[in-house]
Amino acid sequence: MVRTILSYPDPELKKKSQPVTVINDKIRELVRDMADTMYDAPGVGLAAPQIGVHQRVIVIDVAGKDEPPNLIVAINPVIIHAEGESYEEEGCLSVPTYAANVRRHARVVVKGLNLEGEEVNWKADDLLAIAFQHEIDHLDGILFIDHISQLKREIFRRKYRRNSLEQEGNE
Ligand code: NI
Repeated sequence: MVRTILSYPDPELKKKSQPVTVINDKIRELVRDMADTMYDAPGVGLAAPQIGVHQRVIVIDVAGKDEPPNLIVAINPVIIHAEGESYEEEGCLSVPTYAANVRRHARVVVKGLNLEGEEVNWKADDLLAIAFQHEIDHLDGILFIDHISQLKREIFRRKYRRNSLEQEGNE
């Protein structure tokens, strides 16, 4: 089921998510809904707090348009190794119509559980490494705009406020 994605500045996005203690039907349903919501958007990643659920669950699929889907489900994901630097443009389903370059690690190893409760190590680089860092940030209430410079953030806030006002005016 496609759920509503919360958008900035919803305070729910700033809250820290709790670790999943047991993988039950509720978690399996949450993951299904998260995948449905991500593919519907469409986006390359989604974290549970973006649909208002404060559990440490993320879904990612960075497969290209012409490639078969490759869904990654990571429960309680933790970055256990990070190296290199990247500075690529990011967007977020919770911050529509805005994109900015963000400094990240170029390669990460992420440890977590899959939906079967098995421990998995994901070795990621390029877009997948960025997606893991971006989605894990969501679990700690951090948005990509929290990583950009103060000046850029101020410009963002002004622009965003103006856009929201314009949208209200159109309704
Ligand atoms: Ni995001």
